[in-house]
Amino acid sequence: MAMDWRRVAKGEGGRRNRLRRRFVITTPMSTLTVDLGTRSYPIVVESGLLARAAQWAGRPSRVALLSHPRLAALYAAPLLEGLAREGIACSLITVPAGERFKNLKTVARLYDALLDAGLDRRSLLITLGGGVLGDVGGFTAATYLRGIPFIQVPTTLLAQVDASVGGKTGVDLARGKNLVGAFHQPRAVLIDPDTLQTLSARELRSGLAEVIKYGIICDREFFVCIKEEMRRLLRRDPDALSHAILRSCALKAEVVGQDETEQGLRAILNFGHTVGHALESLTGYRRYKHGEAISIGMVSAGLIGEEMGITPKETTGAIADALQEARLPTAFPADISTDAVLQAMQRDKKTVGGRLTFVLASEIGRVSVVKDVTAQAVEAALRRHRRRGGSEP
Ligand SMILES: NC(=O)c1ccc[n+]([C@@H]2O[C@H](COP(=O)([O-])OP(=O)(O)OC[C@H]3O[C@@H](n4cnc5c(N)ncnc54)[C@H](O)[C@@H]3O)[C@@H](O)[C@H]2O)c1
Ligand SMILES: [Zn+2]
Repeated sequence: MAMDWRRVAKGEGGRRNRLRRRFVITTPMSTLTVDLGTRSYPIVVESGLLARAAQWAGRPSRVALLSHPRLAALYAAPLLEGLAREGIACSLITVPAGERFKNLKTVARLYDALLDAGLDRRSLLITLGGGVLGDVGGFTAATYLRGIPFIQVPTTLLAQVDASVGGKTGVDLARGKNLVGAFHQPRAVLIDPDTLQTLSARELRSGLAEVIKYGIICDREFFVCIKEEMRRLLRRDPDALSHAILRSCALKAEVVGQDETEQGLRAILNFGHTVGHALESLTGYRRYKHGEAISIGMVSAGLIGEEMGITPKETTGAIADALQEARLPTAFPADISTDAVLQAMQRDKKTVGGRLTFVLASEIGRVSVVKDVTAQAVEAALRRHRRRGGSEP
């Protein structure tokens, strides 16, 4: 391994345990803080963490653990046992898995379930699941009795490196994704990388797209490391995963800490997402996993940057190579017209006043938000993307 992950994963100090004076063991520290003043909270990345979740629970009157049936069967026991050992009463509530349940109907059902379980203002909600569960559970916590505290225990790579960090919660409406929501910061984010061992390979790769994105937008050294470690990551090597998660969270936490409510800097997290969202919406959210759509979108963003004279060709090439090494799709879908993508982008809530805003890379590790990108430049880039080919999903 050419580069030292521990050095790269800034935010780690290295904890020294002295054993009988003669031996010094250095273990990587695995906690970082999202710095939001009085609402600051820790993100902890450690294997075997589920059993110790009670440490971050405070002294709640009750706890409701929210999960999906299959995930609860896999991972709820250590959490429930840990809480019981501390004498904390906990009810398990499950909702079916899937984006189609991320809606207000599920939230209404959850309010009833929380009332039935006797949760009051001093109670705590714990969400155990992927981004869907974190979003719907977080929104329920944000609004139940005008807001109760919650802890995120994300179990997909995407949720661990992205959805669980930043305090965005919400649900979909029939007319679009994430149209209703609230900012509600969790009390803690507890990430046990061991949970990724049961995740499907496709979901894992989808999360890797966001990991690669962090390297592109703000950390060249991390980008290089991820490329070097790709095989270990795809093999789910616990060490490689832990460090990739920790560094990704550190980068997102830094961005969120500077721009909690998405006024400016936070927009850089949307690199590759403008075209990605358009592809997801045009294919009814069925063809692509989110990370797959943004993988294609990141290549488009490189080509749009080239059209604007901002992104060097080699940078687009390096982006596409990394994504292909992660076995993510990079080819523009043959059956979707560039026109349809343009129109879908103009409908996206992230376009202000119909103008096209893109996050574009001037090199790996450096991006900027470019407003007023012309439709012609985007069209030319998407046409080139289509001709260029690439890997298929
Ligand atoms: N709030 C935010 O800032 C933010 C950011 C990015 C994405 N999101 C949201 O996240 C959602 C996507 O999240 P996702 O990709 O995690 O999908 P998901 O929550 O639907 O999870 C994917 C599937 O994996 C299963 N699963 C989860 N963990 C597992 C495990 N450890 N082992 C086996 N199976 C497991 C789930 O039950 C589900 O079937 C979208 O709704 C998106 O809008 C939110
Ligand atoms: Zn994303």
